Amino acid sequence: MYDVTLIPGDGIGPEITKSIREIIEATGVKINWEIVNAGEGVMDQYGTPLPEEVLESVKKNKVALKGPITTPVGSGFRSVNVAIRQKLDLYVNLRPAKTMKGAPTKFENLDVVIFRENTEGLYAGIEHMVGDDAAESIKIITRKASERIVRAAFEYAKENNRKKVTAVHKANILKLSDGLFKAVAEEVAKDYPEIEFDNKIVDNMCMQLVQYPENYDVLVLPNLYGDIVSDLCAGLIGGLGLTPGANLNDELAVFEAVHGSAPDIAGENKANPIALLLSACMMLNHLGEKEAASAIEEAVAAILAEGKVLTGDLGGNASTTEITAEIIKKVKEN
Ligand code: NAI
Ligand code: MG
Repeated sequence: MYDVTLIPGDGIGPEITKSIREIIEATGVKINWEIVNAGEGVMDQYGTPLPEEVLESVKKNKVALKGPITTPVGSGFRSVNVAIRQKLDLYVNLRPAKTMKGAPTKFENLDVVIFRENTEGLYAGIEHMVGDDAAESIKIITRKASERIVRAAFEYAKENNRKKVTAVHKANILKLSDGLFKAVAEEVAKDYPEIEFDNKIVDNMCMQLVQYPENYDVLVLPNLYGDIVSDLCAGLIGGLGLTPGANLNDELAVFEAVHGSAPDIAGENKANPIALLLSACMMLNHLGEKEAASAIEEAVAAILAEGKVLTGDLGGNASTTEITAEIIKKVKEN
């Protein structure tokens, strides 16, 4: 029995977290979910979209599964999601993107793991007007944050038999900030002579990922580039409905999909649960439940390959409950 924090979230969050709980239950893994909520839905009750008990629960249980959160306007938060990452110092945003057979995409052979710096860069939140007609946003790059994210990428590569780490930047223009990130990456790379290292300028990286995806393996990027490149990779593998993620530090792990709360389809039983489900598989692997994770991943792969029970974003017309039932059926057959 594992104690895990569950943050259902807003929009499609409650529908897809319900689906994930049912699928995990079908694997036989027992989880004691501690349900706490954040976002738009708790504003009235708590007067804040991020009650302290949410952070306390994650600190206590060390592992959380999080649905997407809508940040209410005027709540004092730029983004509740970013606030959770920053307050818990979850410095790694890990986003794997792998083409699966049957996924709705004409791109093949993408199998990259993105390490996005999750605490600083242009997300430091330092922004102000200069008079009425100009605005400044300040990008912070530190040696400490750069070093720990690059090291996390290399450690992951080592543990998972990945061959290459590529640092992504715009150091030709942002000579000091991205220059520091690149220099730190080059220094850290020296500690891992067995892993190939290269670096790419971010715009070129986007083109390369579309044209030569097979050349890339683990990518490490400052915050904003990581955000953008991970959505690019989500598009390359067939959309946000398929792309999982995790926010990590050396002690805590919060698993969440790359997508948001999808207000356009919320409450309509149309959301694709697979992105959050694959995030939950990352969570099961983190907990040591590798068999359950593989059983779910195989069920998802079979569903995509068969192409019969798919949600709208994947070109089908199945509901969230129908695809959930199909995944459960396949998990149980295994
Ligand atoms: P979004 O990811 O919610 O939606 C973009 C498009 O993808 C929409 O058409 C949506 O219907 C579709 N989509 C997303 N997830 C889907 C799924 N699982 N199944 C089927 N279709 C799916 O991005 P958007 O519209 O920019 O943001 C909506 C809200 O979500 C905003 O309030 C935003 O701040 C928040 N957000 C939260 C995130 C988080 O909790 N980590 C991440 C990104 C956005
Ligand atoms: Mg994003």
